[in-house]
Amino acid sequence: MSDVKRIGVLTGGGDAPGLNAVIYGVTLAAHRRGWEVYGIHTGYTGLLDTDKITRLTPERVTGIVSQGGTILGTTNKGNPFKLPVKNAAGEMEYLDASDRIVQNFRRLGLDVLVAVGGDGSLGIAHRLAQMGIPVVGVPKTIDNDLAATVITFGFDTAVSTATEALDKLHSTAAAHERVLVVEVMGRYAGWIALNAGISGSADAILIPEIPFDINKVCAKISDLELAGKGYGIVVVAEGAKPRDGGLITREGAEAGRQEVLLGGIGEWVAKQIAARTGKDTRSLVLGHLQRGGTPTTFDRLLAVRFGAAAVRFIAEGKRNVMVASRPPDMAAVPLAEAIDHMKSVPLDSDSVLTARDLGICFGD
Ligand code: F6P
Repeated sequence: MSDVKRIGVLTGGGDAPGLNAVIYGVTLAAHRRGWEVYGIHTGYTGLLDTDKITRLTPERVTGIVSQGGTILGTTNKGNPFKLPVKNAAGEMEYLDASDRIVQNFRRLGLDVLVAVGGDGSLGIAHRLAQMGIPVVGVPKTIDNDLAATVITFGFDTAVSTATEALDKLHSTAAAHERVLVVEVMGRYAGWIALNAGISGSADAILIPEIPFDINKVCAKISDLELAGKGYGIVVVAEGAKPRDGGLITREGAEAGRQEVLLGGIGEWVAKQIAARTGKDTRSLVLGHLQRGGTPTTFDRLLAVRFGAAAVRFIAEGKRNVMVASRPPDMAAVPLAEAIDHMKSVPLDSDSVLTARDLGICFGD
């Protein structure tokens, strides 16, 4: 018999379609066991300013499974170990507010914290676990870059959105005999670019795992022309980099943000293609479109399963673990292991081999 009576749930980091489905799964599975569920708002900051904590009931979460975003709100600037605050002189300083999180967690009478997040938020969960907060993590990221889990929810939706965009771009690119360069998200991993690029019939896919030679990408575009195809579609992961260059990041890192903001490589590639091939070339950044909207059925199911599994593991007495998808099951892996390393696209994976079989250029 579990001695759990009250659990908290929060969503941290960038949102991903399916977060509400996790909240739904957690709430219903906990309610069935007679536990109370409290929704903590805006990531870990909701455990500093506890005013907005709300009770989650089956009635409250009815209908949220199909909604994108998160009813709890989220932030990627809420690391309690390095919280940005302005001092009297208006300068930004960083505070360690983790003790207050632990105190508030205990004051609220919470037994376990379900932390839904990516590597950053799960890393914070791990540190809080070491300070005595019993935690169960749920992996979330559209980037699909967490090694401990076979898949994360949000990824399928992001790939579907990117693929739909590519489908639409073919006709306008063909009409103008242009090259269209599409920059997609994914941080330091090429999963979104690879899966959407193959599904959306791209001619070239540039991913962080394969530093590219721009001359080879341009040669591919010229080959298309010679073969009678007047247009080209190039998918570029935001973390892709040329062989002789580095990552392109955006200026002005925001205070409290753990990660640099990637972006700009698509435009760089487009300019190079235009200059070197003489082809009319345009670039676009799909950006947050990939994070928005209704989760696909695949993501909803996966997310609800993650939520229910988190509660099941809590009931089984598991703590300081992350729920991991290990088809056909869910597994509980130690948090330390879960945040240990990222999952890159293996260069010998079937998807990479498939792309090569189709003649898709990786610029290598
Ligand atoms: O990790 C998810 C992600 O969407 C990345 O693909 C992207 O680099 C980043 O978050 C964007 O962050 P923000 O929402 O802060 O612009």
